[in-house]
Amino acid sequence: MATVLTLAGDGIGPEIMAQAINVLKRVNETFDLGLTLEEGLIGGVAIDATGEPLPEETLTRARAADAVLLGAVGGPKWDAIERSKRPERGLLKIRSALGLFANLRVAKLYPQLANASSIKPEIIKGLDLLIVRELTGGIYFGEPRGIRTLENGEQQGYNTMVYSTSEIERIGKVAFELAQTRTAASGNPARVCSVDKANVLEVTELWKQTITKMQQADYSDVALSHMYADNACMQLIRDPKQFDVMVTGNMFGDILSDEAAMLTGSIGMLPSASLDEAGKGMYEPCHGSAPDIAGQDKANPLATILSVAMMLRYTFKQEAAAQAIEQAVSDVLDDGLRTPDILDKTEAGLTQVGCQQMGEAVLAKL
Ligand code: IPM
Ligand code: MG
Repeated sequence: MATVLTLAGDGIGPEIMAQAINVLKRVNETFDLGLTLEEGLIGGVAIDATGEPLPEETLTRARAADAVLLGAVGGPKWDAIERSKRPERGLLKIRSALGLFANLRVAKLYPQLANASSIKPEIIKGLDLLIVRELTGGIYFGEPRGIRTLENGEQQGYNTMVYSTSEIERIGKVAFELAQTRTAASGNPARVCSVDKANVLEVTELWKQTITKMQQADYSDVALSHMYADNACMQLIRDPKQFDVMVTGNMFGDILSDEAAMLTGSIGMLPSASLDEAGKGMYEPCHGSAPDIAGQDKANPLATILSVAMMLRYTFKQEAAAQAIEQAVSDVLDDGLRTPDILDKTEAGLTQVGCQQMGEAVLAKL
């Protein structure tokens, strides 16, 4: 029997997770998936309970589980703690310890939300792009790192951006193969855009060379382009539909995926999958713990609910159940239900709802 470990975390985490769990339990029954759900601690709540942002017990259970569903971590309460013990370190540690190097972030525009975006509707209409972000390397994990005192008494912060050929190759493979899968489904030509800063950083010069060699050797059916990260930021706003799959390192992927999220109206809509080499994964919304609205029933649970759909698709190969959830989300948007983050106040026929009501509406469609 397969197990899903749920880690609600901090801030709005518990609220959005409660709705996502209801959805998961429902499809578990209707599609007879045979999944067992467990709960565990990560982030600030784990610090409060155990002193560690990622307790050993959570890691052991995450290793044993077939998939992990995560809410969000962090908040002002834990900002003053020593750096290595902060909630975010728990998240980085679980990604690294489980070997979840491939982070897939899909920015897909629900046509119902075209007006909720700050970008003109014609620019984003039909948008469906996938950012493949390397998640366990690069400047997030490179050594040496720290804050040191120089001889003149001044302090200096430093980090190291590193990528080895094998790290670049394994994320490149994911991107090229997903481009091939997407073209099979959409009929559009397979395209990968690799984002780097090869004009300045040697580490991304190697990135660019490696991705280029891979395309020439194994993926000649995929059209490959390269773009500098700064230009990619600009192009995402100017003409996002020029992209299909974007592949990039940890930090550029962090930045570009927030930007891509806003094209779709709200970061509250963006799910993600973080996969290891065997396809085992952790699934989480791209947004954070939003402490400013925590506990007020204002959060958008849809990114977490859509993360459940990704989990069913990628780890459990249950495409029908995944699509049922995505359809239910689309249906509630058709009905005009909107959490505050996706509410366009100028549009007629919309109803503002809270986190719980949104989750219940999705459930009612399943
Ligand atoms: C994300 C987040 C995390 C990251 C933080 C919370 C450590 O911004 O998942 O995009 O930078 O990876
Ligand atoms: Mg981020």
